[in-house]
Amino acid sequence: MVSLLENPLRVGLQQQGMPEPQIIVIFGASGDLTWRKLVPALYKLRREGRIPPETTIVGVARREWTHEYFREQMQKGMEEAHASVPLGELWQDFSQGLFYCPGDIDKPESYQKLKTLLSELDEKRNTRGNRMFYLSVAPNFFPEAIRQLGGGGMLDDPYKHRLVIEKPFGRDLASAQSLNQIVQKYCKENQVYRIDHYLGKETVQNLLVFRFANAIFEPLWNRQFVDHVQITVAETVGVEDRAGYYEQAGALRDMLQNHLMQLYCLTAMEAPNSMDADSIRTEKVKVLQATRLADVPNLSRSAVRGQYSGGWMKGQQVPGYHEEPGVDPKSGTPTYVAMKFMVDNWRWQGVPFYLRTGKRMPKKVSEISIHFRDVPSRMFQSASQQRNANILAMRIQPNEGISLRFDVKMPGAEFRTRSVDMDFSYGSFGIQATSDAYDRLFLDCMMGDQTLFTRADEVEAAWQVVTPALSVWDTPTDPATIPRYEAGTWEPAEAELLINQDGRNWRRL
Ligand code: BG6
Repeated sequence: MVSLLENPLRVGLQQQGMPEPQIIVIFGASGDLTWRKLVPALYKLRREGRIPPETTIVGVARREWTHEYFREQMQKGMEEAHASVPLGELWQDFSQGLFYCPGDIDKPESYQKLKTLLSELDEKRNTRGNRMFYLSVAPNFFPEAIRQLGGGGMLDDPYKHRLVIEKPFGRDLASAQSLNQIVQKYCKENQVYRIDHYLGKETVQNLLVFRFANAIFEPLWNRQFVDHVQITVAETVGVEDRAGYYEQAGALRDMLQNHLMQLYCLTAMEAPNSMDADSIRTEKVKVLQATRLADVPNLSRSAVRGQYSGGWMKGQQVPGYHEEPGVDPKSGTPTYVAMKFMVDNWRWQGVPFYLRTGKRMPKKVSEISIHFRDVPSRMFQSASQQRNANILAMRIQPNEGISLRFDVKMPGAEFRTRSVDMDFSYGSFGIQATSDAYDRLFLDCMMGDQTLFTRADEVEAAWQVVTPALSVWDTPTDPATIPRYEAGTWEPAEAELLINQDGRNWRRL
């Protein structure tokens, strides 16, 4: 039997193929992510005929569910979160491949039971010993789950056994390094898939195509033409029912160190030698190694955190972070973070990258905007003229697309100018650019393609950049000193200042 990774059918960015039958074991299967995203993504792949019918899913969690109950829960989840997806006969067949194995992360007997079930399923469903272990549990359980899987010989085959780890990978540089050591004790790097679901989004993958398949932008993509770059990921949701997790994470660990820094890497990195996983990931590591917070001694000039207070969203009154269920009323966890990065390399010397993310912002919007330098002489400036430097905006979501802002002459006798946008929208393809991403990530992992997953050195380099802020913010603070912003408004005043001090403004989205 030639296994998948001995003979990799890499999907890469151009080719698509069919992976070998395998068992996907989801740890933390009773959590929301499983019914909301993971099982629906696998069902989508099955409907599209992109994974074989033998594909088998085993849910593992503490609750004493049966196979049948697990199937019912997944079906309910599909009906609730994906009501437009037809279930019918294909779902019946797919759901016969769903199994459940109750177990505790830290009990060796749970893994023995799982191992026996997996061998039985190999026989029954012809899955040939191919396994993907997907850790969708709270991050503090990752080390134990990996030790138990590895110690139980379940990660021994570097070609047939894969390990998928959800984010955040570690809570800081030291814990990420120690988690990497545990992973490396039991696995080869080519077995490890550190997930950042932003990399599965079409518009994020398009950053590579846009930058490296178009000759006209590259000559402008540097310190000679770019004034600064802004990366925004704003969400309208609050902490919802995830306080248990979020209180430990906060905006920096939940969003900035991973999702925003991936957007940053793809915007700032050099062209890779080829599109293979390691060439791309090596370039990301290189740019991260050249990146630093702008002004470490004066942290507030390069990093600002914030917390939302009560306010109004779409006419509804919403509670402040401290009033959310499960949140400590004295919590210092940030729900907003903004940072200013500088890059010490030839391309970007002197060009600031401003990153910001927050919950309970007025709009859900993710965007990267490249703000070009202004013209050397303002020939057309007068009171009646609006003038703006050129902006290239890449809209990650929603309304996925790209726009380029430039000035034109208003019709009429005078030289009155106006800024207009030239716009490309993904909608014009007539196909939705998927922003859910898990289907793409599952397929790549099943095919053994690591391009869209984070490498060990990459995740550590990303932590390294934010360490100076974490080391200050992780010390106990009087929560009253953490800047506030009202739910339904943009950033706290301190974050305005972060960019205003440089004579620039956050882009209003
Ligand atoms: C997750 C975070 O990784 O990303 C959530 O844990 C956040 O807090 C979510 O809401 C945002 O993802 P998306 O795809 O909706 O932008």
